Parts: sequence; C-alpha cells; structure tokens
Amino acid sequence: MKPPVIDDGEEDALFCGQEGTVMSRPAPANANGKKYHIITFGCQMNSADSERMAGSLESLGYSCVEEPGGADVLIYNTCSIREKAELKLYSALGRQAKRKRQHMGDLKIVVAGCVAGQEGAALLRRVPEVDLVMGPHHANRIGDLLDQVEQGNQVVATEHVDIAEDITAARRDSDITAWVNVIHGCNEKCTYCIVPFTRGSEQSRTPEAIRREMLSLGEAGYKEVTLLGQNVDAYGRDLPGFAADNSGRRAWTFTDLLRYVHDVPGIERIRFATSHPRYFTERLIKACSELPKLCEFFHIPFQSGDNDILREMKRGYTHERYREIINSIRRYMPDASVSGDVIVGFPGETEEQFQRTVAMVEEVGFDRVNTAAYSPRPGTPAAVWDDQVADLIKADRLNRLNAVVNRVAEERAQRFLGRDLEILVEGPNPRNPDQAVGRTQHNKLLYFDGDGAALKGTLAMCHVDRVHAYTLYGTMV
Ligand code: SAH
Ligand code: SF4
Ligand code: F3S
Repeated sequence: MKPPVIDDGEEDALFCGQEGTVMSRPAPANANGKKYHIITFGCQMNSADSERMAGSLESLGYSCVEEPGGADVLIYNTCSIREKAELKLYSALGRQAKRKRQHMGDLKIVVAGCVAGQEGAALLRRVPEVDLVMGPHHANRIGDLLDQVEQGNQVVATEHVDIAEDITAARRDSDITAWVNVIHGCNEKCTYCIVPFTRGSEQSRTPEAIRREMLSLGEAGYKEVTLLGQNVDAYGRDLPGFAADNSGRRAWTFTDLLRYVHDVPGIERIRFATSHPRYFTERLIKACSELPKLCEFFHIPFQSGDNDILREMKRGYTHERYREIINSIRRYMPDASVSGDVIVGFPGETEEQFQRTVAMVEEVGFDRVNTAAYSPRPGTPAAVWDDQVADLIKADRLNRLNAVVNRVAEERAQRFLGRDLEILVEGPNPRNPDQAVGRTQHNKLLYFDGDGAALKGTLAMCHVDRVHAYTLYGTMV
C-alpha cells in the first residue's frame, strides 16, 4: 500500500511555507560578471534575509540571474518548520549537486536559513558538494563567508552570534512594500517548534535603527512596511531600561515602538507579524485603533482550541483567553481581519480535542487560518513522545478542518460586499494585464479593471462587486 499523502497546508500558508525566487533585475553599476540566484523557502523572516543577502551580493558586484542554471553562486534559503519543507531542500540540492559533479566545477552552492542552522556541518557530510552552510544569524555576512569559500574552503557558520546591523541596504523584491525586522529569534519553548533552535534567542533591534530604516524606505517611495518577528510582542524585553511611569514595564515595548515609528513620512501603512496570544495586550489593541497608519489586520496563531493540548504545547494561554483577545480587538475595531495558525494531530490529540479546534474556527470567524499537520522535528520535546497520532488520522483531520476554514473565510469575507475600500495598488494582475491588483488594509487582494502599471504604489478607492474567501473583485471609484 502506498503511504498516505499528507497535505500539510504549506501551499496555502501565508506566514510559512511560501516559496519564491528573487526576481530578475538589472546588474549593479559595479558588476563583476558573477551571477547569483536565491531560492527562498519558509516565512517572511527568510524572505527578509534573502533580500539582505541579495543586497550584500549586489554591493559586491554580483548580478541576479533568473535561472538557477546561470548562477555562479546558488543560494537555498531554507525552512525546517516541517519535515516536508526540509525534504524539498534535499531534492533540489540533489539535482544541483549532480550538475556540479558533472559539468560545473565552479558553481558555489550555499545553504542558508533554518535547515542550515539546524544541521550545521552534518549538511556537508550529507551533500559534500555544498560550499557554504550559513545559519540565519549570518545572513548579513554572506560576502565575507563567500571570500573564505573562494580561498578553497568549505565553510560552516551557524553559531548564534549577535546579529549586527546591516552595512548594506537590502535588495527588495517590491518597491512599494517592505519587510523591517524588529526582533530576531524566539525565547518561547513551544514543544513542537524548531525555530528557537534555528534562530536562537531574542535580539531586539534598537528603536532608532528601526526608525532609520523606515525613514529611508519612506524617502525611497515605499508606502507600506511590515514589522517582523517570530513574536513581535516580545519586542524590547532584551533592551535596557524601564518606563519612566513606574509601571514596571520595559522602556521599550512593541506598543511604544509602534508609536515611535508611526509618523515616518511617506509610509502610509504599517503591519506586523507574528503576534503571540500570551503577550498580546489591551494596550497594543488600543494603540492599533488609535494610530491611523496601523492596518486592521492581526495574525495571531492559536494552534489548538483545546486547553490540555495548549498546555502540552506550552503555549501559555487558554482558548478562553484567546477568544477574549479577539473580542477585545473587535470591540475597538469591529471590522478587523484576524488570521491564525493551527496544528492538527499534535501528540495525544483525540477526536474530541480536534473538534474543539474546529469549533474555535467556526466561533471566532477567522478571515484565514494556516493549517498544518503536526510534524515531529528533531530535538523538540514533542517529537519523542510516544502518543504520536497516525499520519492517516492527521491527514483526515486536516482535510475536514480545511473545509471549515474555507467556508468560514468565505462567510466572513461577505462583510466587504458592496463597500468602498481603500487599496494600495501593487501593479498589474500578472494573469490579466487589463486588470490591476491591490491590497486592502485587511490584507485581502482586490482585483479591478485598470492600468496597474500607472496606478502602482497609489492608494485607490474601489467598490467591492464580488467576494471570494480570499480575494475581492471591484471597480475603481
Ligand atoms: N512564531 C509564530 C509562528 C512560528 S512558525 C507563533 O508563535 O505562532 C509558523 C507556524 O508553523 C506555527 O504557528 C505553527 O502553526 C506551525 N508549526 C510550527 N512547528 C510545527 C510542527 N512541528 N508541525 C506542524 N506545524 C508547525
Ligand atoms: Fe515557535 Fe512558539 Fe517561538 Fe512561535 S512562539 S516561533 S511557535 S517556539
Ligand atoms: Fe521556516 Fe525558519 Fe521561518 S523554520 S517558518 S524559515 S523561522
């Protein structure tokens, strides 16, 4: 019998499992004839790291090439959140290693990101054709590391060092919306999760560095910024000092940061991800409702609707607390979009416990939920528990949950029908040049007839004529 196919929801994921390549673009002024190509797996943190690596490489004279086959330096920026993400790397790597053995002695193969952080030197033993293994902490050192490779070394850089501020600007895929890291790493100990092993402890960037980056983005014509961290609510815990108001709060919390960067000229919209229910405060919700540039869009993973499973996951909240957060968001911002992540088939999960997750999706009314079948990850506590759920059961729960998620998203999207919404135009619809596409502040894509190239980067009002679960169709007003 064939093994079951586990659809772990990766293809649909918004915050994880996305996969793309850095696009083609003109050669830098100091072009040295060498070409690079980056293939990015994983979450926005990896997308942001890829853009920083591209920036460093272009400052050194490398040009981006659209096809991996044309590259002198081929970089896989990898994800290890689930086994499937990791396997994708090994199959791609196998093909390139073979090419390198057969034809291309000069090709340099780089494995960056979370699989690199997880495997370190073991990756070289598994695929000896790899030249450089560099963990996420080293993204802005790629130039130095490649120098060492050029000297004929195989290099492994995976220690959890202090992440220095970038000396070169990121080479961004979009010229309208930008990622801005606010905190690297994660100090949580969710029992299923590999991220603390691959990305290490929390390191907040200083508010000044974040504001400086946003100011230069505003000057360069960027309109929207997404502030990034695995747990943005932890922002500032590692920065020195306490608030002057004797509240006992740290000098800098995420809410303080939002107020500090909110007035950056040119930046019209600010988003952030990911929020952790354990630390999500009323103070933050209030600030979001008061600050006009803050988008009414919240990505707050809940993982399970069952309190015993949440405790086993060491998430630090109950489903009741999660619901309170959502109610509070909707009290201040009735229209707000809410998305979440959820895992089915965590060790020991019974059908009854799974049903509590289904009920939660129905009752909260999410705009989107990224669903995943639990995947045991090396070195994480839950991976060795002996009450693992069978693959077939996980696949079945995932299918049933996805049907509910899509129905709820479709129902919830109906609130936009017939309304006029402001969108930030991203450009032409890649599949229909007569149409433009933009994003509402609720993070919904909206398609309408119009000149996407001319409108790109502008804020436009559109009347919503038709509504699907994840996309809207409208007319410019
Ligand atoms: N920092 C965020 C998200 C981190 S990873 C948070 O705290 O929620 C993105 C998502 O991947 C998680 O929310 C979780 O739903 C999923 N995920 C993480 N580890 C997983 C595993 N071992 N198996 C399946 N899904 C997992
Ligand atoms: Fe992983 Fe938990 Fe940290 Fe999110 S908060 S990155 S799920 S350990
Ligand atoms: Fe994947 Fe690493 Fe992000 S494991 S989800 S790329 S933090």
